[in-house]
Amino acid sequence: MSSTENEIGRPGGVANGLWGWLNKRFPAESILNDHITDYYASKSLNWWYVFGSIAMLVLVIQLVTGLFLTMSYKPSSAEAFASVEYIMRDVEWGWLIRYLHSTGASLFFVVVYLHMFRGLLYGSYKKPRELVWIFGMLIYMALAAEAFFGYLLPWGQMSYWGAQVIVSLFGAIPFLGESLVEWIRGDFFISDITLNRFFALHVIALPLVLIMLVAAHILALHEVGSTSPDGIEIKERKGPDGKPVDGIAFHPYHTAKDLVAWTAFFFVFLAIVFFAPEMGGYFLEHANFERADPLKTPEHIAPVWYFTPFYAILRAVPDKLMGVIMMGAAMVFLFFLPWLDRSPVKSIRLRGWMFKLALTLFVISFIALGYLGTQPATTVYTWFARLFTAIYFLFFILMPWYTKMDPVKPIPERVAYHG
Ligand code: HEM
Repeated sequence: MSSTENEIGRPGGVANGLWGWLNKRFPAESILNDHITDYYASKSLNWWYVFGSIAMLVLVIQLVTGLFLTMSYKPSSAEAFASVEYIMRDVEWGWLIRYLHSTGASLFFVVVYLHMFRGLLYGSYKKPRELVWIFGMLIYMALAAEAFFGYLLPWGQMSYWGAQVIVSLFGAIPFLGESLVEWIRGDFFISDITLNRFFALHVIALPLVLIMLVAAHILALHEVGSTSPDGIEIKERKGPDGKPVDGIAFHPYHTAKDLVAWTAFFFVFLAIVFFAPEMGGYFLEHANFERADPLKTPEHIAPVWYFTPFYAILRAVPDKLMGVIMMGAAMVFLFFLPWLDRSPVKSIRLRGWMFKLALTLFVISFIALGYLGTQPATTVYTWFARLFTAIYFLFFILMPWYTKMDPVKPIPERVAYHG
């Protein structure tokens, strides 16, 4: 065997032993090089850029804790509620596994919303990262479905009635509606059959979809590279060694930083798990400690906090079908951001007052809608919800105009050190 046959791409080195054996049969080293040690990202990435890796951590936490929950959970309407109580009281460490999973679900959304907000701050969705953004949006939709299916499983009052409200929304679709609702439920009402299929979707179908989408998201990102808070594209300026002069290797530099972020995340995560797992009814709703009763509608039905902005939009529109369309449109508009934003710059540091104002109003309206979605739909609250719904949509509808008019700063040549 010649020495070149032994070569596996390590600069100046030939790996022998088990590592060499493996690499002649599987591209382990080249995968590590391409995605970790030789993957370059801007020197100036700030803390907004840690949420992607935290989201990956949370995904793993959810998969592992979910696996252990499945070992003791019973997916049947007769046994589900009691099996969750059994996990909480009798299964060794069952309470911890369940609280890690339920807290993980909420924190997944906190992290993903912050991750998406970073995208808005730094124009991460703009060319050439449109596909990274689209895969991200598909992840968001899959995550919403995953959370929705999972919420029925404890078979509490809010599980049951929440599912009832959301599934019945499909009934608003003309002609198809009623048959579609029956098809989704597999029955004339939310029943054991519905629970069984939601279980299958929650533990198998959607986790698989999520894993595949996250892989596609990262592959697409590594093809184009990360943005930079300074608003420059590091690939445009390379040194004699072919490496971007404003970049540093992902490992060990960004991995070290991500590790700090993971540690901080664990402090917050475990503080909630140990001291406030219900989070005042926001992470685990009070009504869900009562077994599902098809004959007793709870006084106030509200989804978990991460869906409430969209729920508020749904309720703000008087017509049911229009409400459903608006709620769908609130998510669909996000997919089109790469083409709605006509600004020549990406980063918020280079944008003018118009985009900054629009983004601030958008964030205020999203949070306000989130709050209103948790409250009873009184007349005053409904009018506020209409106002914030209008602001939410104007952010997208007027975007081609204000991003074009915005007085932007010139794109800098190199990253700057902000000590
Ligand atoms: C399970 C959920 C997700 C995981 C595990 C994930 C993972 C990641 C990772 C590791 C990165 C690189 C590090 C970083 O920039 O933070 C990244 C970047 C990115 N993600 Fe996600 N992501 C998720 C969801 C989303 C969602 C919902 C969106 C938007 C709709 C999104 C949009 C983006 C964009 C545009 C980038 C490139 C950012 C830039 O370079 O400026 N991601 N993601």
